[in-house]
Amino acid sequence: MKSSDKPLIAALNGERIGPPPIWLMRQAGRYLPEYRALREVAGGFLNLCYDPEKAAEVTLQPLRRFGFDAAILFSDILVIPHALGQEVTFEAGEGPRLDPVRDADGLGRLGMDNLHESLAPIYETVKRVAADLPDGAALIGFAGAPWTVATYMVEGSGSRDYPNAKAWALGNPDGFQVLVDLLVDATTEYLIRQVEAGAEALQIFDTWAGVLPKYAFDRFCAAPVLEIARRVKAVHPHIPIIAFPRGASLYLPKMAAAPEIDAIGIDYAVDPVWAAREIQPHAAVQGNFDPILLLAGGDELERRAKEIVEALSNGPHIFNLGHGILQQTPLEHVERLVRAVRG
Ligand code: CP3
Repeated sequence: MKSSDKPLIAALNGERIGPPPIWLMRQAGRYLPEYRALREVAGGFLNLCYDPEKAAEVTLQPLRRFGFDAAILFSDILVIPHALGQEVTFEAGEGPRLDPVRDADGLGRLGMDNLHESLAPIYETVKRVAADLPDGAALIGFAGAPWTVATYMVEGSGSRDYPNAKAWALGNPDGFQVLVDLLVDATTEYLIRQVEAGAEALQIFDTWAGVLPKYAFDRFCAAPVLEIARRVKAVHPHIPIIAFPRGASLYLPKMAAAPEIDAIGIDYAVDPVWAAREIQPHAAVQGNFDPILLLAGGDELERRAKEIVEALSNGPHIFNLGHGILQQTPLEHVERLVRAVRG
């Protein structure tokens, strides 16, 4: 099937599709028994990301089970710091650990010399998934946004308030810009290669976009994401791009109005009725069911899913969660959500 005939791509191109196409952020992962089984034998999470055969299998697992309209490449946003030369590990149950970069010295140890060599297995995964996609499903490639990736690079782990990254960004913005510029360059090249390997749409995850004051959001979240989108589209003008600046609701309409952004992912705190009015005239809206309600289940699950579908039914909408699916989510709840959305 031609890409543009697939429901996900049609919605990204501005078509109103009823019922809306559906996929879930983090749809490949630990809530699936078949993922846990494969993860067990892969020997470490990053090894799984760099093993094209297993990563392609994991990418397709949720489509086989739930018939989603999209596959999202199985990888992680932290393969970019790794490819730039930073040490990255995932400790079981603890999340990522990186050797923190906090100053010009740390920046001096990073570089793009081995970028594509390090990321080659991921391009191979994209290629394999593209060749194996179920009919009608589209393949989404992705990367982290520079700000969100930088928070992990600077803190050296997940964090609640990102004190070191924020202190650098707000206290020495021109110094911090050097890191952001490097991430813009690397991320652009990475996404272009994903498209060339077979990705049909791209999502840029800015999970921590909501922690910056407005002026810093403009400089370190919006501007770099738009710059990446512009550069990718200079090479591949028709590739749809989804931005997901989580927690940045008031700034979303301006981003949606940028011509290089085709869709905005909205988090679960955004009112879908507001999004229909303020975002849909400019871009498709993706979202925004609360992953905790998916975990909780029950009749409210169905009611609130239908409420989101209804609120966004007059414009282009892709049904998704407002953030990634949680590990403890029962499979029956996911099945029920898909049934509710597809009527
Ligand atoms: O959506 C998908 O199914 C595709 C794969 C994907 C993963 N991570 C796999 C993963 C995607 C798109 C991501 C993005 C990602 N990674 C983000 C942005 C989106 C978001 O959720 O906010 C962020 C912030 C990361 C960084 C990251 N990776 C963290 C903080 C953690 C640890 C927390 C956790 O859930 O364990 C990871 C690990 C990770 N990435 C796992 C998976 C399936 C779990 C690793 C495991 O199997 O042990």
